[in-house]
Amino acid sequence: MDSQMDEEAPKMYNEKPNILITGTPGVGKTTLARLLCEYVDSLTYVNVGDLIKEKKLYKKWDEEFDVPIFDEDMVCDELEPYMQQGGMVIDFHTSGFFPQRWFNLVVLLRCNNTDLYDRLKARGYAEKKITENIECEILEVTSEEVYDSYDSDVIVQLHNEKESDMQNNINIIIERLKMWKAQKDAQKQ
Ligand SMILES: Nc1ncnc2c1ncn2[C@@H]1O[C@H](COP(=O)(O)OP(=O)(O)OP(=O)(O)O)[C@@H](O)[C@H]1O
Ligand SMILES: [Mg+2]
Repeated sequence: MDSQMDEEAPKMYNEKPNILITGTPGVGKTTLARLLCEYVDSLTYVNVGDLIKEKKLYKKWDEEFDVPIFDEDMVCDELEPYMQQGGMVIDFHTSGFFPQRWFNLVVLLRCNNTDLYDRLKARGYAEKKITENIECEILEVTSEEVYDSYDSDVIVQLHNEKESDMQNNINIIIERLKMWKAQKDAQKQ
């Protein structure tokens, strides 16, 4: 998938940060993103997978896995006005097609194979689907995509395995958001 290192595109001047939460299916994106939006009132949660289905942002259907094959341009066009407003928490398992300029923070969630396997199994996923997702995590497919697509200074990689990791991860993200705000305020002076 092509990354959009769109240096020529206009910069975003939002008062509120846009955050991407990404990682292999089952790493805990939705759980963490929703919790973050509970902690920080000014943030709005967007589940891109649900949005694709609700707004029919696809032109083809994957018969084998019974899921839509989303259209990257349709997804970006749908999200653009919201990203211009700022304060969006975007939850999606793939990220290289989003414009780089959208995000002030990119959270890459990771999980060990054993816990990931158990989580996907508990969802009732078929062995083939579980294996594909575990391989994706082992081969660092999502991780590579993130590091190829975004500046390393906006990326934060977090392990999300135990229940206690969740609160630690929220604290780390909130600290990063405070740093972003402080930098922004300093630029205004
Ligand atoms: N830190 C954690 N400790 C223990 N269990 C967790 C943790 N984070 C998430 N989980 C559990 O893992 C499962 C998968 O989490 P979640 O649905 O948030 O993943 P996801 O990355 O959004 O997956 P998908 O990409 O398929 O939507 C859920 O049952 C959730 O309760
Ligand atoms: Mg999810």
